[in-house]
Amino acid sequence: MSKVKTAYFCQHCGTQSPKWVGKCPNCGEWNSFVEEIIQKQESGAAGIRTTQKLSKPRPIHDLQAAQLPRYPIVDQELNRVLGGGLVPGSLILFGGEPGIGKSTLMLQLALKQLNLSVLYVSGEESEEQIRMRAERLGLENPRCLVLMETSLENILLHAEEIKPDVLIIDSIQTLASQNIESSPGSVSQVRECASRMMKFSKETNTVVFLIGHITKEGTLAGPKVLEHMVDTVLQFEGDRHHIYRLMRTTKNRFGSTNELGIYEMQGAGLREVANPSEILIHSQTDDLTGAAIAATLEGARPLLVEIQALVSTAVYGTPQRSTTGFDVRRLNMLLAVLEKKCGFRLAMKDVFLNIAGGMRLEDPAMDLAVITTILSSNAEIAIPKLTCFAGEVGLSGEIRPVTRIDSRIQEATKLGFEEIYVSKYNKGLDGFSKKIKVIPVEKVGDLFSRIFG
Ligand code: TYD
Ligand code: MG
Repeated sequence: MSKVKTAYFCQHCGTQSPKWVGKCPNCGEWNSFVEEIIQKQESGAAGIRTTQKLSKPRPIHDLQAAQLPRYPIVDQELNRVLGGGLVPGSLILFGGEPGIGKSTLMLQLALKQLNLSVLYVSGEESEEQIRMRAERLGLENPRCLVLMETSLENILLHAEEIKPDVLIIDSIQTLASQNIESSPGSVSQVRECASRMMKFSKETNTVVFLIGHITKEGTLAGPKVLEHMVDTVLQFEGDRHHIYRLMRTTKNRFGSTNELGIYEMQGAGLREVANPSEILIHSQTDDLTGAAIAATLEGARPLLVEIQALVSTAVYGTPQRSTTGFDVRRLNMLLAVLEKKCGFRLAMKDVFLNIAGGMRLEDPAMDLAVITTILSSNAEIAIPKLTCFAGEVGLSGEIRPVTRIDSRIQEATKLGFEEIYVSKYNKGLDGFSKKIKVIPVEKVGDLFSRIFG
């Protein structure tokens, strides 16, 4: 028997160390090192080297581009985010906070994807629970098999025998391999299980989804290590108290990483939201103060969202600045620009900012709508109803151009907006439908005098 070898691993980022250390030299986390038994793999570095000798360097022109006949997906949002269809032999990590709807979405995929055979492995729920959920989702795909198992070796045995097109593991943190003695969910278990799953998916051309939980800090619990290993990292996010869920990729070997998928959580599962702007804009009858519409872009997808602000006199000494769905540092920067460059007195005011629908967005083109709504709330003057904004605000109070202005203007036109404020420096502001008035502005001051007179 080989000698048991141990090493210490950071439970936060997976850094390995031969001895215990208090602070992780890689991620700076304190007290995160845990001793784990590691087992030397038989096929060590030497083994790999001999097999690799067979491949030779070849001119790039002689290489064949892989024919990747993708499996078409019924779910159009997932389809868009993945870059069109499931690639056979791909390993996809699907992360999100507990309760956000990961299991629901995956089971839904398994049930609606009639063209594929699916093996859904759950280590978290009982058969009864899954059956109940499946009934809620409206059972379909007869080729969907369900397995309650947490042993990696058993799962692989079943999968090799069944040969499904798609294998779903719910979740990677519940799997355990016999080769490793540490408990499920530890870095070494997660790493081992994921690498065996990767091997399985490449050898058998199976699409493997690994569901992974995310910690409060927003990292995939423990397995930061997984992100290099997998082909695609999908993230599911949203506010649990809101019904909307966003799906993004942070890594995608087979498509772009800036696409966004939007779902609505309903009583019978997750519904795809094909036209998000309509639901994100509150259909208001009167002009409101402290609410402006931003024409943002997520990936290639234009999205009109409502941004709300409340500005009030600070009751306590230090004014509060708080945001939902928007970067609070960016808000502070915009407030500083308004104070210093444009002469608005906001230093002693509380400012609350909220993006409607529980969305979390980062597009700098929202700046213009953010400052307009702040000024509107501060001055108690409403913004005209059918007006929207797309522009970035620079540190000297200038309004900077944003990307893909044409898509933003088209989306606004489609939704019936009559005016859109953009940067004067944006190119290509002509040739739009007569229905919308494109108003170029240069400085925050111009905007203020045009809107609030
Ligand atoms: P779940 O998929 O179990 O989350 P995760 O696997 O990410 O932990 O989702 C659980 C939540 O979704 C739960 O609070 C109930 C809700 N839900 C619905 O609103 N409608 C549905 O049809 C289903 C199946 C779940
Ligand atoms: Mg779950």
